[in-house]
Amino acid sequence: MEHFKDTVAIVTGGASGIGRALCEELSQRGTAEVIVADINAEGARQVASAITTRGGRAHAAHLDISQAGDVQKLVVDTASKHGRLDYMFNNAGIAIGGEMRDMGLEHWRRILDVNLWGVIYGTTSAYKVMVKQGFGHIVNTASLAGLTPVPLITAYATTKHAVVGLSTSLRAEGAELGVKVSVVCPGFIRTGIIDAIVNVTKLEKAYPDVSSINMMDAGDCARIILRGVVRNKAIITVTAFACFLWWLSRLHPAIAPLVFRKRLNEFRALRSES
Ligand code: NAI
Repeated sequence: MEHFKDTVAIVTGGASGIGRALCEELSQRGTAEVIVADINAEGARQVASAITTRGGRAHAAHLDISQAGDVQKLVVDTASKHGRLDYMFNNAGIAIGGEMRDMGLEHWRRILDVNLWGVIYGTTSAYKVMVKQGFGHIVNTASLAGLTPVPLITAYATTKHAVVGLSTSLRAEGAELGVKVSVVCPGFIRTGIIDAIVNVTKLEKAYPDVSSINMMDAGDCARIILRGVVRNKAIITVTAFACFLWWLSRLHPAIAPLVFRKRLNEFRALRSES
């Protein structure tokens, strides 16, 4: 509990899902201020207001992480207002699903802008501030799809693999300068991202059908993330499925993609019916 007391944290994508749960958990652990940053300004305001109503300290910020200047301004302004920035949670992200053959360059650009460039902007801005102050922890959210191949979300997996590489490499570079870097790789978490997913392959039935998937609650996910942050883990895997598949990918790289074979076959069957 003491670990986060009186610290200052920015959480991107704080209006919903994992980001929201992180903001709530951090405030319960005594942070001096949590900046709830999101493109959804009203959602961010509601999360910050719920936290302050319960006696915590939070501030809402309207932020599109694909805008480099805006991300840098938020980071610099936060650090100068509080005299420090302890945590930068680069959590916001979007998902685009469907087959690669249906995906246009505009889809690639959009997902790279948010999931990769957005994380790069947050990381570089926070890193400069943290190197200068000599401490800080950057926590980037990737995915299980950043550790193992996942068909039907190829562009998403591309961005998440890049976020893992960015984070693990910078971790080695930043350690002696006092800056910690961790990357979060969750499996399935119950949040708004599945409803918001853009499917580039048009099917008659909704896909994926997530009703049969056993998903973890976002609050449990946030607690596992913060436990990993306290332990300064390099890669914080969340859910038993993510831990298993990552292990399988390292042990049998050729077998791991077969785990998604059934989903791919179902998808192709739906495609031929449509
Ligand atoms: P969510 O959809 O509930 O929350 C994402 C938040 O990011 C939303 O509040 C949204 O408004 C915000 N956002 C989207 N684009 C933005 C932008 N350009 N600038 C600022 N904010 C933006 O989804 P969830 O699941 O909480 O996602 C959080 C992170 O977790 C994402 O990076 C996602 O890829 C990752 N993740 C989620 C998994 C899941 O099963 N839910 C599994 C693995 C990774």
